[in-house]
Amino acid sequence: MSKVTYFSGETFPLEMHKVRIIQKLTLLPIEERLRAIEEAGYNTFLLQNKDVFLDMLTDSGVNAMSDRQQAAMLTADDAYAGSATFARLHAKLNDFFGTRYFLPAHQGRAAEHILAKHFVKPGTLVATNYHFTTTKQHITALGGEVVELVDHAGVEVVSDNRFKGNVDVAAFERLVAERGAANFAFFRMEAGTNLIGGQPYSLANLRAVSEICHREGIPLVMDASLLADNLYFIKTREPECADWDIHDIVLAMANLCDVIYFSARKLGFGRGGGIVTNDQALYEQMRAWVPMYEGFLTYGGMSVREMEAITVGLDETLDEDMINQGPLFIAHFVTEMDKRGIPVVTPPGGLGAHVDAMRFLDHVDQRQYPSGALAAAVYLASGVRGMERGTLSEQREPDGSERISDMELLRLALPRRVFTLSQIQYAVDRIFWLYSNRQIVGGLKWVEEPEILRFFYGRLTPVGDWQHELVAKFREDFGDSL
Ligand code: F0G
Repeated sequence: MSKVTYFSGETFPLEMHKVRIIQKLTLLPIEERLRAIEEAGYNTFLLQNKDVFLDMLTDSGVNAMSDRQQAAMLTADDAYAGSATFARLHAKLNDFFGTRYFLPAHQGRAAEHILAKHFVKPGTLVATNYHFTTTKQHITALGGEVVELVDHAGVEVVSDNRFKGNVDVAAFERLVAERGAANFAFFRMEAGTNLIGGQPYSLANLRAVSEICHREGIPLVMDASLLADNLYFIKTREPECADWDIHDIVLAMANLCDVIYFSARKLGFGRGGGIVTNDQALYEQMRAWVPMYEGFLTYGGMSVREMEAITVGLDETLDEDMINQGPLFIAHFVTEMDKRGIPVVTPPGGLGAHVDAMRFLDHVDQRQYPSGALAAAVYLASGVRGMERGTLSEQREPDGSERISDMELLRLALPRRVFTLSQIQYAVDRIFWLYSNRQIVGGLKWVEEPEILRFFYGRLTPVGDWQHELVAKFREDFGDSL
């Protein structure tokens, strides 16, 4: 929690930085927001950013950079091969994770591509605490199967479990016994588990998983894209680590894994990604794919400026005053919604605030995509752009039937160091208004449904005419206010 307590007894987050560059925003009238969301096929991915007031779609590649990052970008050494910038990033990663080898990639999913090509064969399985969309796509496209082993608490929306990203270790033991260790391509531990609300796992749980993996010869891969939030939660929620330095937590985690990959669009407040390991043979085998898909080994699709920014960003990830910004603002956002009765995922995680669309729109069938409908309705009500994380984000089963998601969430991501407390208060106010009028909102149906990653490009339309009714109610309640 924040190191500052207040005389009034209130609690609110406090920025340990100041803002020195700003970008002007536009808040369109609701009628224009209606035009924009219609043009976007009721899919917030297809909105133009100029039509968005607060962009809470993602924290990927949109975190604010620090003065030190910007300064480092000016010192970048531009070279195709052997740039000093790459050497600096490589040395920083070695130090950060305690590893020796680094394969650069243009972003997280490119690292997943290389890992999947190396490890996944048809019929193999990848066990994971919880899947991520792009990871699953890479694994299944190569004939692999993804098995989720998150502890049951992970998929309970309301919980007081502080490590909802933990693996059910007994279920992992059972799976090994049933399927045989040799059939595992690898085990994937996703830090700050994205699709269940940015929820962390504990160091103790990672230790238990690592023990089984190493006993059974199953490679343990960590997805460290959302590591920063997970580190903060381990430090503040796991008594064993309360007095540990953040870097000691990173080293202890890394030491339990065979391979670590990351999206630097999240980790390191930059853009890019990569894979690190201490296994020389593995490094040499995976290396072959980098020049083929990403670029030469000393840039892997990243610009030298991005690499300099990541190098500094990794230092900032070890600064508790920097990595607490996400979790503290998110906790405030979640608590303010919770106080007003808006159903939210608890305890607050990293990445963003997550609204439970299953309860918010409990009158909308999951086959009419309540979280997609809620994302569109929140945009209409506020100009805030969130992201659907529910059935729409799933792939259909091979027989074409709908795969119904465990959770229906609207994710309101908080890019680090970007939004102010008053902007969060505005979002809470408008979402509260929408919650008070939730009966108006109906479901969505497909107009165009792509076969792969349908949530990115798919176009939908409301079931019925709820969008016009919502606009009319907004005007009735708010007059000519934006
Ligand atoms: N792993 C996790 C846990 C992620 O959250 C992401 C991206 C990736 C891998 C892929 O990385 O985007 O650099 O290719 N998550 C973004 C999001 C897209 O909005 O949650 P990438």
